[in-house]
Amino acid sequence: MSPDQASADRRSDFVGGEYPFTVHDFTRLAQILRAETGIVLEEGKMPLLYARLAKRLRELGMDSFKSYCAFIATAAGADERRRMLEALTTNVTRFFRGPHHFEHLRTQVMPQLATQARRGRRVRFWSAGCSSGEEPYSIALTILSVLPEAAQLDVKVLATDIDSDVLQRGKEGVYSETALAQVNSELRRRWFGPAESQSECRRAGPELRALVAFRNSNLVGPWPMKGPFEVIFCRNTVIYFDEDVRTQIWSKMAALLSHGGHLYGANYHGMLPLQHRGQQVAFNVYSRETQKSDGLDARGGGFERQWEAK
Ligand SMILES: C[S@@+](CC[C@H](N)C(=O)[O-])C[C@H]1O[C@@H](n2cnc3c(N)ncnc32)[C@H](O)[C@@H]1O
Repeated sequence: MSPDQASADRRSDFVGGEYPFTVHDFTRLAQILRAETGIVLEEGKMPLLYARLAKRLRELGMDSFKSYCAFIATAAGADERRRMLEALTTNVTRFFRGPHHFEHLRTQVMPQLATQARRGRRVRFWSAGCSSGEEPYSIALTILSVLPEAAQLDVKVLATDIDSDVLQRGKEGVYSETALAQVNSELRRRWFGPAESQSECRRAGPELRALVAFRNSNLVGPWPMKGPFEVIFCRNTVIYFDEDVRTQIWSKMAALLSHGGHLYGANYHGMLPLQHRGQQVAFNVYSRETQKSDGLDARGGGFERQWEAK
């Protein structure tokens, strides 16, 4: 059998299971995912896509992926289309993931930002692809460890994600003791309180929650926030994206950074396209030029004004 024939046979395979699922169905769904979120799924991920969406078909009482594809293409299926995208995102996260970034933020960046905030200046952070809140709360805890009065100053952490379920969890701010084991005991005692009726959990206290604003926003598409941000975290999110989309996102983020601002990425991100606009100052940490000589435009405006107006 020729390699082409073997490949054609493989492409006509169904993924075994409750519902018929063809390569054609997979391709249609993967195209929608890529166009709307930037996330790329190769054919090898067919079983994963099947596993994540079979539950949706069951809940909708559908008999095949073919009917599901047809349904999400209709106006009546718009809400299901959104649910499909949410089901296909990967939300794995944890407190103080990539601890060297938080150490860098605390020791190299926060001292100067704390001085600025105490002088009444606006200081903004952004956690892009924030999942259920562990990353933005880790940023907020790092801020509070240097600037305990941050909630009374003009300091905010914007936390955005495309998935409304994880955003809701972030807003609630309730985490198990196991999840909180990554937070040092002093910070945990000071900034978390009891979670009503959930004895195994603790809830982010009012000052910690006041620092973080959760918003639904797709990194692929227009961005409502104008910046500038002193610090942006975008880790373990764009790794799933198409390379072109990823490069565009890094460039847009660099343009939203204040001069001297910091962008924290994660492994495999290929942040090299940013090198000519600033420099790598630590592992996967990029700092924008302090002079206005890089041709990028960091306009003021803040995120809260646009979004509070809605
Ligand atoms: C693996 S989590 C990473 C969470 C956190 N940044 C961390 O490093 O622990 C990736 C998050 O990115 C979100 N995401 C994926 N595509 C997105 C997009 N196009 N716009 C906004 N968020 C997106 C997912 O919903 C998910 O919560």
